[in-house]
Amino acid sequence: MSIEQRLQEEVSQAFNQLFDFKLKPEEVAIQPTRKEFEGSHTFVTFQYLKITKKSPEQSGQAIGEYLRQHSDIVQDFNVVKGFLNLVIADNVWLSSLNDLRKNENYGQLPANGQKVMVEYSSPNTNKPLHLGHLRNNFIGYSVSEILKANGYEVMKVQIVNDRGIHICKSMVAYEKFGDGETPESSNTKGDHLIGKYYVKFDQEYKKEIQALVAAGKDSETAEKTAPILLEAQDTLQKWERRDQKTVDLWKKMNGWVYKGFDDTYHKMGVDFDKYYYESDTYLLGKDIVDQGLSSKVLYRNDDGSVWIDLEEDGLDKKLLLRSDGTSVYMTQDLGTADMRHQDYPFDKCIYVVGNEQDYHFKVLFLILKKLGKDFADGLHHLSYGMVDLPSGKMKSREGTVVDADELIADMLETATAKTKELGKIEGFTTKQATALYEVLGLGALKYFLLKVDPKKRMLFNPSESIEFQGNTGPFIQYTHARIAAILRRAKELNVVEDFNAESISLQSPERELIRLLSEYPLKVREAGENYSPSVIAQYVYDLAKEYNRFYAELSIFGEEDQNIVSFRVALSGAVTQVIKKGMTLLGIIVPERM
Ligand code: ARG
Repeated sequence: MSIEQRLQEEVSQAFNQLFDFKLKPEEVAIQPTRKEFEGSHTFVTFQYLKITKKSPEQSGQAIGEYLRQHSDIVQDFNVVKGFLNLVIADNVWLSSLNDLRKNENYGQLPANGQKVMVEYSSPNTNKPLHLGHLRNNFIGYSVSEILKANGYEVMKVQIVNDRGIHICKSMVAYEKFGDGETPESSNTKGDHLIGKYYVKFDQEYKKEIQALVAAGKDSETAEKTAPILLEAQDTLQKWERRDQKTVDLWKKMNGWVYKGFDDTYHKMGVDFDKYYYESDTYLLGKDIVDQGLSSKVLYRNDDGSVWIDLEEDGLDKKLLLRSDGTSVYMTQDLGTADMRHQDYPFDKCIYVVGNEQDYHFKVLFLILKKLGKDFADGLHHLSYGMVDLPSGKMKSREGTVVDADELIADMLETATAKTKELGKIEGFTTKQATALYEVLGLGALKYFLLKVDPKKRMLFNPSESIEFQGNTGPFIQYTHARIAAILRRAKELNVVEDFNAESISLQSPERELIRLLSEYPLKVREAGENYSPSVIAQYVYDLAKEYNRFYAELSIFGEEDQNIVSFRVALSGAVTQVIKKGMTLLGIIVPERM
C-alpha cells in the first residue's frame, strides 16, 4: 500500500472515531503539501465541515491529534488555515524506498485487461515527414508506452494515405519531368524525391494557370481546367480502374516513399505493430456508406452524392461520396475504423492527429455512432497543437515546412558541437562519441517536443533544447550519467547498498527525493489518464533537479558514517532507475557515461 493509501485509511478511521461518520478511504482527498510548509501530505478540511461540525482549524487540529496518537506513519502535523499538513516518519520513507528499490516492475501498473489501439504518424505519400510529424510521432510513441505502463495491451498502428489526387500529382509530374530518375540514380531519399515532384507539379500548375489567365480566362476557370490538373484527375480515374501502367507507377513511387519513411522512423526511434493503407480501406468505406443508405442514416442528393445531416447535433451536412462515386477523406476513415475493430477488438482507439482536424474527428465519431457501431464510444482524438520555429531559423529550402530529416541532422550537428565544446567525451572511442551525440541530439528534440502538453501550440527552440542546464533532455541525460558514475565509484569502493534504516534521520533533500520517487506510479497514472507525456517529462525533470540539490548539499563518499554512505548510494541508485524508466516512457535513451 502506498503512503497515500495508508493515510486515506487512517483519516477514514479518524472520521469514524471522532465524528461517528463512515467516510470511504478513497473519498479522502490527499494532496502534496505546499513547499513553504512542513510536511509532505496535506488533508484539506473544507469540504468536510458539515461532518465535523467544527471550524476548518479545529477540524484539522482534531484529525491531526488523532493521527499523531493512532497512526503508524504520521509523526507530526501542523494546521494552516484549514489545511492539515502531515509529517511522515522517516522510517516510513526509508521502508518505502526499500520497497521500490526491490521492485523491478516499479511503475508498471497491473494489467487491466483492456486493449487500446494508438494511431499515429499516418502520413500522405506525396512528400517527406516534417516538424509536425515529429511532434506527432513522439507523442504517439510515448503515449503508447505510457498506456502499456498503465496496464493496457497496446497496438501501435498508422493509416498511410497512399491514394488520391495528391499522389497522382506527384506521379504526373514525375512522368513529365522525371526522365527515369530513381532514388539510387539521384542519390536522394525516396520520400524526398517524390516530394520534389509534388513541388514541381505545383510550380507547373501555377504557370499554366497564369498562361490561361493571360489568354483571357477567368482565374476560377483557369484553376479548374489547367491541363496538368486534368491529367492528375485522369490518372486518379485510371488508378481507380486499376489501369496496369498507372498502378505499376503508383506502386513503384510509393515503394520509394516507404523506404524513405522507414529510414526516418528508424532515426526517430519509433515503430508500429501494423500498417493500414487507404488503398485497402477506402472501398470498405463505400460499403459502410451503402449500409448507411439502407438504414436511412445517410441520404442521396439529386446529383447522386451521398451525405449525412448533422445539423441537429450542431454540426453541418457532410459529404461522404462524391456524385461521381469517388470517396473522400471521411469515407476511408469509416472503412479504416471498422476494419481495425474487426482486426483488434479494442476498448479504446486513440487517433494522434493535429488540431486542424478537430472537426473531422468530431464528425467521424458521430457518424460511426449513428451507424450503430458499438466501438464508437471508445474512440478518442488526441489532438495536438502546431509547432512553430523562431522565425528565420531552420526553414527548409522550399520555405515554410521544416523537413524532419533535415531537422534531425541539424540536431545531431548541434549536439556534436555542444558536447565537444563542453568536453564531455574524454576517453570515448569515435564510435562511442558518435553514439552519444545521437542520443543527446535526439533526446533534446524529443524532450523539448514532449515537455509541452499536447494540446498547446508551441515554439521549438533548437538551441535552447540542447542546453545542458534547465528543463531539457540533455540536462536529465547528464544527471543520469552523473549518477551512473557515482554508482560505478561506489562499486569500486565496495560500498554495499543495504543500510540500516533505524539509525538514519533524513535530511530535507533526501526526504524530498524519496517523496518524489514514491510519487512515480501516480504520475504514470495521471499521464495515462490525460494521454499526456508532459506529465512524465515534468516529473523526471523535478526528480533530476532535486537530485542535483541533494548532490550539492550533501556529500556521498565524504560522509564518515558508512551506513549513511550506503543509504545515499542506494537512494542514488533508485533515482537513476526511475529517471531511466520515465525517460523510456518518453522514448528517450539515457547514457551511462558522458
Ligand atoms: N494523412 C493525414 C494527413 O496527413 C492524416 C491522417 C490521420 N488519421 C486519420 N485516421 N484520418 O493529414
